[in-house]
Amino acid sequence: EKGGYDHFMLKEIYEQPSVIKDTYRGRLHANEGLIQMAGVEDNLEKFLNAERIIIVACGTSWHAGLVAEYIFEEFTRIPVEVEYASEFRYRNPIINRNDVVIAISQSGETADTMAAIKLAKENGAFVFGVCNVVGSSISRETHAGAYTHAGPEIGVASTKAFTTQITVLTMIALRLAKAKGTLSTSVFHAYLNELEIIPEKVKEALETNEKAKEIAAVFKDAPNCLYLGRGYNFPVALEGALKLKEISYIHAEGYPAAEMKHGPIALIDELMPVIVIAPKQGHYDKIVSNIQEIKSRSGKIIAVVTKGDTQVRELADYIIEIPETSDALSPLITTIPLQLLSYHIAVMRGCNVDQPRNLAKSVTVE
Ligand code: F6R
Repeated sequence: EKGGYDHFMLKEIYEQPSVIKDTYRGRLHANEGLIQMAGVEDNLEKFLNAERIIIVACGTSWHAGLVAEYIFEEFTRIPVEVEYASEFRYRNPIINRNDVVIAISQSGETADTMAAIKLAKENGAFVFGVCNVVGSSISRETHAGAYTHAGPEIGVASTKAFTTQITVLTMIALRLAKAKGTLSTSVFHAYLNELEIIPEKVKEALETNEKAKEIAAVFKDAPNCLYLGRGYNFPVALEGALKLKEISYIHAEGYPAAEMKHGPIALIDELMPVIVIAPKQGHYDKIVSNIQEIKSRSGKIIAVVTKGDTQVRELADYIIEIPETSDALSPLITTIPLQLLSYHIAVMRGCNVDQPRNLAKSVTVE
């Protein structure tokens, strides 16, 4: 049932090109310049009148929410807040009738996310779910929603759920941008076309597997690891660090690259691997200077770069090359080598990749 792979996690990582297609099938019509999602169409007014979008989720789903914050604000100009469901539910949050709450959950059973949804409903907000498991508690509790259609995710570490959540959220943002006119027609069409070919690029990104394995062999015994990214790739840094800690038990932290100098830079020495997400699009020059800061303190640099990159190659100890895409869609690509890297490190350390210690696939208790 692992389809020839050693672990469910690896199988699920490799499924991403096809499940992203499943996610957008029948919804994304690049040729016609259309996005059709029933849950969004039926509630379009609610979305368009939203004064604010509040995203609630936990763990990896929360990271997808952070990516969505950047995408929604850029595409639709609707203010977005992203909250850990566990914090939101207990802090007497301000929820207005004109808020749209988006709850993201792979399992659809996470207790804290469920409680956040109930609270939002009690306060009159419209609640939209992004779930993977069809018929799950959260999918039933929300007013409307969109499934990710990623298929069953067995590995405890979330992989394909993350990229398909981002795909769904990107489509929603694009649909709203079209209605609001917040993206120019040409930019809107360019995103549709780019999203349509993303599965091909994810497939290409999977070719980094050997490289990830090679790097894993070098760093598998590191006690700590730092992940840095900026903009759309800051949440990817958080997700990369979470993946590493949960399956390999190596302490890892994700940071916005520029925050490094406000503290974490003190950790850097020749034993500290620093994984930097540095694609060509986005804040490239800024991230190059961040890499220089690490290098001058003898940190070991593993950089995820766009194919053909020359500047970072000069500075980094190891590079992982990925195909080029737009800044906003890059998390769908940059996250792939980080999943593979964590996977190989965990395997080399003899860890139980699919069922890491102390973790459960759905967290139905708070
Ligand atoms: C990380 C992981 C967890 C879940 C979190 C939320 O790999 O699996 O952090 O992402 O427990 O779960 P869902 O999305 O089912 O609500």
